[in-house]
Order: sequence, then structure tokens, then C-alpha cells
Amino acid sequence: MNSWRILTDHDVSLEDLLKVEPLSYKAYLQKGGYAGLNKAIETLGPSGVLEAVKSSGLRGRGGAGFPTWKKWDFVVQQKETERYLCCNAAEDEPGTFKDRFLLRTNPHQLIEGVILAAYAIGASEAYIYINGRYEQEIQFMEEALQESKAQGHWGKMPSSPGLGVSLKICPSPGTYVAGEETALLEVIEGKVAKPRQKPPYYPAMHGLFGKPTVVNNAESISNIPGIVREGTERFRSIGTNSSPGTMIFTLTGDVNRPGLYELPLGTPLRTLIEDCGGGIKDGAVLKAFFPGGPSTSILPANQVDVPLDFDTLKEAGSGLGTGAVIVMAEEACMIRAAIEYTRFFARESCGQCPPCELGTVHLAEILEKIESGSGSEKEIDQVMQVCTMIKGRGQCFLLTGAAIAVESIFHHFREEFEQHVNIGRCPFAIQH
Ligand SMILES: Cc1cc2nc3c(=O)[nH]c(=O)nc-3n(C[C@H](O)[C@H](O)[C@H](O)COP(=O)(O)O)c2cc1C
Repeated sequence: MNSWRILTDHDVSLEDLLKVEPLSYKAYLQKGGYAGLNKAIETLGPSGVLEAVKSSGLRGRGGAGFPTWKKWDFVVQQKETERYLCCNAAEDEPGTFKDRFLLRTNPHQLIEGVILAAYAIGASEAYIYINGRYEQEIQFMEEALQESKAQGHWGKMPSSPGLGVSLKICPSPGTYVAGEETALLEVIEGKVAKPRQKPPYYPAMHGLFGKPTVVNNAESISNIPGIVREGTERFRSIGTNSSPGTMIFTLTGDVNRPGLYELPLGTPLRTLIEDCGGGIKDGAVLKAFFPGGPSTSILPANQVDVPLDFDTLKEAGSGLGTGAVIVMAEEACMIRAAIEYTRFFARESCGQCPPCELGTVHLAEILEKIESGSGSEKEIDQVMQVCTMIKGRGQCFLLTGAAIAVESIFHHFREEFEQHVNIGRCPFAIQH
């Protein structure tokens, strides 16, 4: 049988990463650590930090690429003065483990970013929400948190809004949906990880404990100390005009060297696959790739030179998502890939929206029938019917993400669906 399947951080060799000791407090200070926080307190003030993030052009690395400063500004504009900051390191999407790397290698950078973000929005409490499976990273983060508190970077002076902030770690249940921003709020409030109805529960207005809240991804937040310390020009000198800075790409799938690669935004996908990933496994030919994780549309091999940035990928009909680049070689069965993702989304559905819980299972069953060779034209038509029916439904993006993945596979590889039906078996299965 064709063996293509989705990879997670369990599969990719993380040996090197798991050997990495976190950068110590002292080493972080030597690299300029906490200088951004001092600069913020001594000269910039909260509005100056927001202004710096605005002029840097930083966009969220958690999936949507939303301008970070805009989120902050929504919260700053609220009359309510009790505000919260949540740093999202829940990551549990297939092929995504960049936040784990950041938590592990440089916890103080993340902590400084959290303090700066809380300072900018006037939050008195901040939560670092970490995938509960990342036990060692949580431990490292706890130790770093206590160290930075002991050094007076937070928690000491309640009269000063920035330094008076209190920082806490909250483990997530380690499920995909628990990373959705309103499910995150539910978990921190001690409830089950189920997304809230939007509207009216937008975090900026009705967030944690009903108060204005910013939820930012861990990579977004890790960029903030550098922006504040070094100034925005340096940040803007990397990447493209509308997608400045770098992104940590998680390269998985059919490549020789899967792993994490930090590159300037706008770098062509070919560079990531060939120079960083050592090309396609066993000298095979590229067939397709997800540029931003399985909730973005798949793109065919002829798009291999597409620049990896938010706007170009959108124009190309896909998205940068979380930077999880998943590569498929010519012999991968695209229906098998569609099944793997649809089963993943079905498993991860929280069950509160019937179209999500039932629709994903139904879609997987149709795909399995086609892949096994027992499907007909009827099932082929049903694939798009079900995708159209479920897209845009449900309280969060999970269901739409599932539909987008399958729809895009169908759009680019429809002939494979026909082939399975016509020959009555998977053409990629090894014949004995
Ligand atoms: C099902 C689902 C799972 C998500 N998981 C994560 C996650 O693990 N980490 C994350 O930062 N964002 C995740 N998001 C996106 C968040 O809802 C939110 O947009 C993000 O944390 C905002 O951070 P940013 O503005 O810095 O990009 C998820 C969204 C959905 C729909």
C-alpha cells in the first residue's frame, strides 16, 4: 500500500531539538535580553511599544497573519481597564512544532515578549498557554519564569502597570481545537476546550473572564523583544514589505531533511525544499505541498517557486497559515492524504457543532470508499457536495479548514479520483 501519512513531532527526528538546553538567563542578558523591556519602561511607555510593533508590520504567526498591533489597539481602545494577555503555544496541528522549539530554546525571549505585550495593552495578568504534552518545555518555562521574577522583571511593583503584571503558565489539554483562541479562554477559565460563538464573544471585547483580551501566538510574541530593542528598521529589512521578518517553517513530508528552518518571509518554497530540506526523498519528483499546514489549500508542484509570504500565498489560492510546509512526492496518493487529514479533523472535532462532528466523518467515509476502489461517480460528486455543505459552518475554523484541504486536493487532482473509480483500486498501491 501507499504509505503516505501525516507526520507530527513524534515522527520527525527531534533528537537534536530534544538535546537542546534552554538559553540561560545570563546568556540571554549577554545577547541583549531584557534590554527591550528596560527601553520600554524607561523611554517608550506602553503607547511607544504599540507604536513600535505597528511600524514593524509584525503579523501573527498563529495562522491568520493578522497585524499584531491592530489586535492590541482594539483592546487598548476598550474602556474596561481589567485586561488580559494570552500567549498561545498550544500547537497541535499536524506538521507544526515551531512553538515547541521557541519554548525550549529561548524561554526568556518569550517571557520578555509576554511582559512587553502585557505592558503595551495594560494587562495586569498574562497566561502562557502551552501544549500539555510538552512536559519538559513547561518545566523549563516554569524555571525561567521564576528566574525572571526573582530578577525583578515582573511581579514586583503593582503600581507600575508593566512590571506589576503577573505571569502564569496554563497547560492546554493537548488537542488541536484547544489552540483555537476562544477554546483557549475556556480552558484558562477551567472549562472544557470548546470554541465560543463569534460574534458576540470576540476576545478583544469579551475575552478571558469577560474582559478585553489579546491572544497572540508564541512565535508572534517571541519577535517582540527584538523589535523593541533593535528598532523596527532592522525587522523591516528582512522579509517583504507586507510580510516583514522571518518565519520558522516546519518542513515535513517527503523530503530528505525534515525539520525547522527559520527563513526570511518571501523566500521561495524551492529554497526551503531543496537547500534546507535536501530535496525530495529518494530523488523522487515533487507532486504537491501544503504551504501552511492542512487548513490551507494544497498547491501543485508547478507552484514550487511561490514566495512564502502572507499575501503572495493568498493570491496563489492558499495561505501561509502556521508555516507548516508539508511536501508530497509523485507517488503519494492524494486521496490517501485527503483521508489522513479528514480523519484528523474528525478526531479533533470537539463535538459541539453537528456539521463538524458528523460532516468530517461522512467526508472521510466517502473518501475511503473511493480510495479502496469501490466508489463510483456518485461518491466523486459527493466529495464536493459535502465540502460545499460544511464550509463556513461550525463555531470555529476547524470544519472550514477540513473542507478547504479536501476541496483543494479535489480541485488539483480530480483525475486521481476518477482513476481510482475507473480501475477499481488505488493506482498507487504496490501490487504483489
Ligand atoms: C482549530 C484551531 C486551532 C488553532 N490552534 C492554534 C494554536 O495551537 N496556536 C496558535 O497560536 N493559534 C491557533 N489557532 C489560531 C488562534 O485561534 C489565534 O488566531 C492565534 O492564536 C492568534 O495569534 P496571532 O495573532 O499571533 O497569529 C487555532 C485556530 C483554530 C481554528
